[in-house]
Amino acid sequence: MLTKAEIAAVAALAGRVRLVAYAPHSGFLVGVAVVTSDDRVFAGCNVENASYGLTLCAERSAIAAAVGAGARAIRAIVLVTATGRACPPCGACLQWISEFGGPETEVIWASVAGDTVRWTLGDLLPCAFGSSVSRP
Ligand code: THU
Repeated sequence: MLTKAEIAAVAALAGRVRLVAYAPHSGFLVGVAVVTSDDRVFAGCNVENASYGLTLCAERSAIAAAVGAGARAIRAIVLVTATGRACPPCGACLQWISEFGGPETEVIWASVAGDTVRWTLGDLLPCAFGSSVSRP
């Protein structure tokens, strides 16, 4: 489990990256930081498109950065929004997290005001699809 100090540091990074999110269509800025199993941290933001369905969520942006640096296992993922209530990752992003994580992977929401809510991936995606299902 990330300590409170670790969450604060990682959320601060995600919060900074959130400010450069490209979200002209929704106006909803999201910043994410991924902590890999070897304790490296990679950040990402949402990148929207005029063809709305092509939008890239912040979680997948951060995970792609981590994978591009050689990471293959996610310990925790922290997302930052300006909402007043907890904002869990969307279903597609949970599936992406599942590719590089497991039921114990931490998923943490932090608000720009400093509130936090912690889940595990198992809480949010209890019946994940994985290659153990398609290639038993
Ligand atoms: N978004 C994310 O970046 N992550 C999520 O988990 C949910 C939604 C973005 C996509 C879009 O740019 C905006 O939030 C509104 O849906």
